[in-house]
Amino acid sequence: MKSIIDNQESQPHPIDNPSVVATFDLRKVYRSGFWLNQKVVSLKGCSLTVYRGETFGLLGPNGAGKTTLLKLLLGIIRPTAGRGLLLGQPLGDRQIKQRIGYLPENPYLYDYLTGWEFLELAAGIFQIPRNVQRDRIPQLLELVGLPLADARKKQMRRYSKGMLQRVGMAQALINDPEVIFLDEPMSGLDPLGRYQMREIILGLKAAGKTIFFNSHILSEVEQICDRIAILSKGELICAGSLQELLGSSNTYHIKGRGGDRQVLQKWLANLAFSHDGSWQGTLQEDYYDFLDSLRLMSGQIISLDLSRYSLEDFFIAQLEQQKHNS
Ligand SMILES: Nc1ncnc2c1ncn2[C@@H]1O[C@H](COP(=O)(O)OP(=O)(O)O)[C@@H](O)[C@H]1O
Ligand SMILES: [Mg+2]
Repeated sequence: MKSIIDNQESQPHPIDNPSVVATFDLRKVYRSGFWLNQKVVSLKGCSLTVYRGETFGLLGPNGAGKTTLLKLLLGIIRPTAGRGLLLGQPLGDRQIKQRIGYLPENPYLYDYLTGWEFLELAAGIFQIPRNVQRDRIPQLLELVGLPLADARKKQMRRYSKGMLQRVGMAQALINDPEVIFLDEPMSGLDPLGRYQMREIILGLKAAGKTIFFNSHILSEVEQICDRIAILSKGELICAGSLQELLGSSNTYHIKGRGGDRQVLQKWLANLAFSHDGSWQGTLQEDYYDFLDSLRLMSGQIISLDLSRYSLEDFFIAQLEQQKHNS
């Protein structure tokens, strides 16, 4: 396991930024089969911390255990071993439920209710008074971008996936929660829907909410999250800020022509030549010395781009490494 996972200890967070979620060796084994005699180890001992105001992304391939971890945090299922705290209270504490919101992976929204009726139902569960509901429901509909006419008149069986996801999001926010848990909020949405969902999440972040979300869409996570963790086969393989994980070291992607092949090979990694005589490769170091050297051998630059190690490259490398280690 990467040492970065223990950043909780190695990198103290300021006292005014207390943890919202903290888990200690959380483990979940499901029993399945007709006689409940088969065991599925969904989570292998997961310790992580999420701080107030953070947008935290839990990444992992399908079946990694992301939904299991979220359900444990929400107290929907109980851990087989280990423990955790949510807003300072043990997982499953009933009082805490008033202060959190949850958008499930495949929300079951009542087909024959309108969006508005469903939000009234959700508000009723939190015992939000009628007069407060009358203000809050239209505000939430506006926030999630669902037209009032659709919410009022259409039954949800006539909603598109994007509209359902919006109602689901409004439902998750009905009690003005401090912490919002989102399970794959972007999945199944078209590019515009994803963009809008991202804007909503960024708006919540700006309002100071703590957001914990599961995703396998890496580009979304890269754009939204302050910190991430990668879960694979029930095991947390790393956690940290994007800066910590991807590094700030810069890689230059260089295209050029001319020069001496052997000298170029010394400078550039992944060097490849094209039939038109041009070449390309990557450079990790400062490029000034390379440019001097290129000038000396009468080579030319066609283009030079700065590119950071992408989350996707990192993600794949981490999973490969785990496969290698196991
Ligand atoms: N209720 C359940 N009973 C038995 N196995 C389950 C149950 N829920 C999830 N699992 C198993 O636990 C593993 C992790 O599932 P899940 O947490 O849904 O992963 P993810 O959300 O990352 O796709 C999978 O192997 C899945 O089949
Ligand atoms: Mg899931």
